Amino acid sequence: MHTILEQLEQRRAVARMGGGQKRIDAQHAKGKLTARERISALLDHGTFEEFDMFVEHRATDFGMADTRIPGDGVVTGWGTVNGRKVFVFAKDFTVFGGSLSEAHAGKIMKLQDMALKNRAPIIGLYDAGGARIQEGVAALGGYAEVFQRNILASGVIPQISLIMGPCAGGDVYSPAMTDFIFMVRDTSYMFVTGPDVVKTVTNETVTAEELGGARIHTTKSSIADGAFDNDIEALLQMRRLIDFLPLSNTDPLPEIACLQPVDAVDMALDTLVPDNPNKPYDIREVIQRTADDGDFFEIQDAFAKNIVTGFGRVEGRTVGFVANQPMVLAGVLDSDASRKAARFVRFCDCFNIPIVTFVDVPGFLPGTAQEYGGLIKHGAKLLFAYGEATVPKVTIITRKAYGGAYDVMASKHLRGDVNYAWPTAQIAVMGAKGAVEIIHRKDIGDADKIAAHTKAYEERFLSPFVAAERGYIDDVIMPHSTRRRVAKALKLLAKKQLSNPWKKHDNIPL
Ligand code: HXC
Repeated sequence: MHTILEQLEQRRAVARMGGGQKRIDAQHAKGKLTARERISALLDHGTFEEFDMFVEHRATDFGMADTRIPGDGVVTGWGTVNGRKVFVFAKDFTVFGGSLSEAHAGKIMKLQDMALKNRAPIIGLYDAGGARIQEGVAALGGYAEVFQRNILASGVIPQISLIMGPCAGGDVYSPAMTDFIFMVRDTSYMFVTGPDVVKTVTNETVTAEELGGARIHTTKSSIADGAFDNDIEALLQMRRLIDFLPLSNTDPLPEIACLQPVDAVDMALDTLVPDNPNKPYDIREVIQRTADDGDFFEIQDAFAKNIVTGFGRVEGRTVGFVANQPMVLAGVLDSDASRKAARFVRFCDCFNIPIVTFVDVPGFLPGTAQEYGGLIKHGAKLLFAYGEATVPKVTIITRKAYGGAYDVMASKHLRGDVNYAWPTAQIAVMGAKGAVEIIHRKDIGDADKIAAHTKAYEERFLSPFVAAERGYIDDVIMPHSTRRRVAKALKLLAKKQLSNPWKKHDNIPL
């Protein structure tokens, strides 16, 4: 009996060593943790329950029969993050470069099935070289089975991917179908085909970093939702993100004790909006002063900075914040900003997270680049996302809400539940200059007349009151009471019931 127990311990010890000490050292030398070290940094201490530690590949071609390593390049299991259940898999680069075999895919599929059945988030930690080349089509089939499960789990349980090394070929598409992708700067990269293939096909010379590093994917392609400096920081931030999310689409929002009273006035907000309507201010200030303890987890902070998206809490409950950012391009809506915010709004709606929207938007960005790039369809994504969302929607117009962008940004007409405006709000078809130049074109040469028309337009239309007179705005509120008014609105809407007509699924303009 004793020997049998020892054998188990020995087998476990062998599995824990993955591809062996030399490869573990090489991993550390690159500034990366091993798969198991990553899992233990992600989960609460001692909570990891591993599955399938003894699974091995079944390939025999290319001498593979003699190279079987228990675990087969991926560590899978579950544990807790601040006491809440999560499933996790971590690619083990020390075993066949973390590449995906049929058996390796089977481990991930089993975990995906368990996560879906038990309704808890799944987090994938990537550090891998794509399909196991020695396995051919068996590996390709494995990928597709994983993808299928990503699709079925989408909108049911949160799925998060953290890229911590190479992520190439077949490995990219599973993360692409998850809710969020984060990367580690300098050590991770993602691409469908690597620099060598690119050189052969297009004759471009690029490094892996230039082709798919964290900078590219957070600022240019928008594939990644954020990047962190090292493995530990990235894993700790994933713990922070998980704390904001419900375990599934039927689980209640997590609640964290709120120590900051919501009824205190915040006088700084009364002077935040400059007198000059063309001067910018940082909308993040408003978000941070509305959220509990200013705690704000920003999503896509480096992409389409003219709109800000992310999670915070009000009175301890998670809220998704969306806000035009006057500091960047005057907060205009362009294709990138529309796509970014639309995806975020849809995530919130999937998981019953109320949406608080701050509006200061001069309209949609004009120009051939935008029109040729599909602004109509991209803008429609945000319009569609807000319009289909049934979660509580609280909107505060802080300054400009011009033209179509007024409609899009969670207006009353798109089933905004509680819509407020600050006294500085200007809700109109367009700004004074453009409006006067169109409706008083014949007076353009007469500066006095134009000045008089402009003043008249500003007094009549550039205020919240025309909208408030029609009930499009529920109240004009003092900026200093924003947190209190938002908290009250969210309390009112806590048990909101609204559903859309039955359909198989909608046809959002993709
Ligand atoms: C089998 C692999 C492997 C793979 C790496 N290894 N990738 N084994 N299949 N795909 C093994 C290496 O043989 C090596 O084994 C160990 O992992 C580490 O690899 P190195 O090359 O030494 O590491 P490094 O220099 O850091 O380079 C990492 C890498 C490179 C950039 C990921 O290994 C690489 O380019 N791999 C191939 C990537 C690729 O083309 N994958 C297939 C994509 S096609 P030893 O024993 O020496 O430690 C695909 C199609 C699926 O995925 C499509 C589905 C939709």
